[in-house]
Amino acid sequence: MLISINMETCKKQLNDLKKNLDFVISDEKLISLALDISRAADKKITIHINDFKLKYNIKLSALQKNNVRDYILGLDDWKIDGILPIDKKIIDKNDVLLAINLLEVGIKRNQAKVIGTIKSRLNKKDNEKENISNYLKIIEEYEKNKNQLLIIKVEPDEKNTIERVRSIIDQEYANLANYHYLTIIFENNSWQTISEIAIYCEFFKQEMNFRVFNKKRIEKINELSEFIKNNKNIKHTKEITNKIEDFFNGVSYGFQFNDLIISDTDSTKILVMQKIELDETILPCPDCMQKNVRGNSYPSLLQRSFECQNPSCPSRSKIGRGKRFDYFNVKRNTYLKIKDTNNLINADLLKAFRRDIFSNKNDYFDMLIQFFSWSGDKVKYISDSKKLDTKQKHNRKIEFCRYSNYKIIKNNNLFLKSLFSEIIKNINIKIENPNTKIIENNFSIYEGNSSNILAGIKEKISGAITSPPYYNAREYSQWPTMLCYLVDMAVNAKAVLEKMESGTYYFYNIGDIVGQDNVFVSSHMSNRRLMLGFYTIMIFEMLGYELLENIIWDKGQVQSKRNSTENIFPSYIKPINCYEHVLIFGKNASKVKISKKVFMIDTVRKINSKGENMLGHTAPYPEQLVKLIFPYVNKDNGYLLDPYLGSGTTIIAGYKNGYKTVGIEYNESYFKLAQKRIESSISFQQNIFSEQKEEQAEDSSPDPSSSACDIRI
Ligand SMILES: C[S@@+](CC[C@H](N)C(=O)[O-])C[C@H]1O[C@@H](n2cnc3c(N)ncnc32)[C@H](O)[C@@H]1O
Repeated sequence: MLISINMETCKKQLNDLKKNLDFVISDEKLISLALDISRAADKKITIHINDFKLKYNIKLSALQKNNVRDYILGLDDWKIDGILPIDKKIIDKNDVLLAINLLEVGIKRNQAKVIGTIKSRLNKKDNEKENISNYLKIIEEYEKNKNQLLIIKVEPDEKNTIERVRSIIDQEYANLANYHYLTIIFENNSWQTISEIAIYCEFFKQEMNFRVFNKKRIEKINELSEFIKNNKNIKHTKEITNKIEDFFNGVSYGFQFNDLIISDTDSTKILVMQKIELDETILPCPDCMQKNVRGNSYPSLLQRSFECQNPSCPSRSKIGRGKRFDYFNVKRNTYLKIKDTNNLINADLLKAFRRDIFSNKNDYFDMLIQFFSWSGDKVKYISDSKKLDTKQKHNRKIEFCRYSNYKIIKNNNLFLKSLFSEIIKNINIKIENPNTKIIENNFSIYEGNSSNILAGIKEKISGAITSPPYYNAREYSQWPTMLCYLVDMAVNAKAVLEKMESGTYYFYNIGDIVGQDNVFVSSHMSNRRLMLGFYTIMIFEMLGYELLENIIWDKGQVQSKRNSTENIFPSYIKPINCYEHVLIFGKNASKVKISKKVFMIDTVRKINSKGENMLGHTAPYPEQLVKLIFPYVNKDNGYLLDPYLGSGTTIIAGYKNGYKTVGIEYNESYFKLAQKRIESSISFQQNIFSEQKEEQAEDSSPDPSSSACDIRI
């Protein structure tokens, strides 16, 4: 079982290391442990395991890879059935010497902890099984009488739909285990219903005892106040100050947005949210089972992680650092170790839900169970129309409840909404002149701040389309917090609304990005999916726009490696985001008749084979997307507006199709880029046009070489 190198070659170093230890250990065992703790040969081992996978054409989960590593290091037996063991002769004398050296450096820095680690790893194997069964008991106790997955199937929209779903969430929140999932199925419900419910889920609770935030409270109030004060388009009133203070009275929280999964026919949408509630319960370290832990960070807001402080924990690193963990991670790893086949996600299901747009034919209910709960979990399913014929699926216990049995309880307004309605009331846009303007027959482009320039332009606006900045996704525009971003977007949307003719449309392309909202705390570790589409709907409706439709723009295959992972287990696997929204807002406009299907449009290819940006702008949208609005713009009566012009795509697409357009861009180099692209596109069009004309002229003139008796075929 132990590794095969000649011990004599490193006898002296081994003996020196042993002098520090107050217990007996064989040379072979010490070498294995030194390699394990120092990770000296890990890179080499990873390459070796990858070659092995290729040779046998097998996939290995993270847990299996660990088993193979342990086998190579001589710590464990071979555990993969049906495959011959991997060759372990790759470890050589240099690896061993490096490992011993690293441990000695660690001992010099932190003697008690590093020696404690070696000692406890000696006994680790004996304790492992016991630790797993103890942790299962802890999980059981922690989640006693709770559901691990809540599924709500919303009935078709009626007067009280939003209030009813909010009431269900209020009543069921406490029954759902912390860090577990709420999924809400919408079938043919409006986008207003979906976005209202999603925003409610994120903000409906207030936590007053969040120490990390309480220290920052005043700073956060000042940050937003200053941002608003510096915005010359908003009148900063006493009422705004009061609303900012109300908002930051505590931390608004509830569920965190994970995704909105959509069927390709656009009829079914599934909102996936994760409950994350502040919980300071001290849990033992999964590797030493001691409660000597210290809470050290909040990886996602309100979710606490711990670091083990036990000097003899087997999981300490070579420099004596304790392992960091949080409850949900420990639960997932413990469940992986018990190897229940009910936790293996079915391959067909995995394929069908690789992306967050799925074929309507696929069974989403089975996906929700297999992706978002574990074997042995309790699932609560609330629905009127779709009953389940089973109380057990993949070893999950399913409890069925009727949707209409839930009483409607009046819930409070969200602080977020009151804050924005006060800000929006006080928007008053000032006119500014552009730095540069280019006005041609068919288009005008202006350089400067879109909101202020819009207020002064003379062009009549018969429609608008844009792709705004997606919060802090790109380098060209950055905001201190998500709220500041939404304030700016609201100001611009108001400027556009004031310019739009009555009866016209605004197409707004936006994606839900992953980022740090920085609203209550700013931490690089708080990255999560931000539902920019739903926030947009909220502020636009408050401004007086009517949301008429939402086209889902399918961007095709995703390049993410996420689900190619061999960890085909619940909550490791999630559908990958592959779409953006094109929200259609109207100003006193009639309904739009757009095919309900998801639209497939290729993204712009801007990076060449050398990895260089050929276009000069990092976020251009495709011309095909601009074409979506053409049937809704009056060609002969006004201009199509793009308030965030970027590289000028809207103008180019408009020109090619005979629409008059106007665009505004504040970044000088993008403005120049747009100008250059527009000019070369126009001259290209004109060349084609004149070539076509010449060809036509040639075709219709008599061929001088032909005679009357020529027979032409
Ligand atoms: C997503 S890009 C638009 C890309 C564009 N659709 C294209 O195809 O190139 C958003 C653009 O808005 C510009 N921008 C952001 N805030 C602005 C403002 N207040 N006024 C004018 N332009 C702004 C940014 O510089 C950026 O170029």
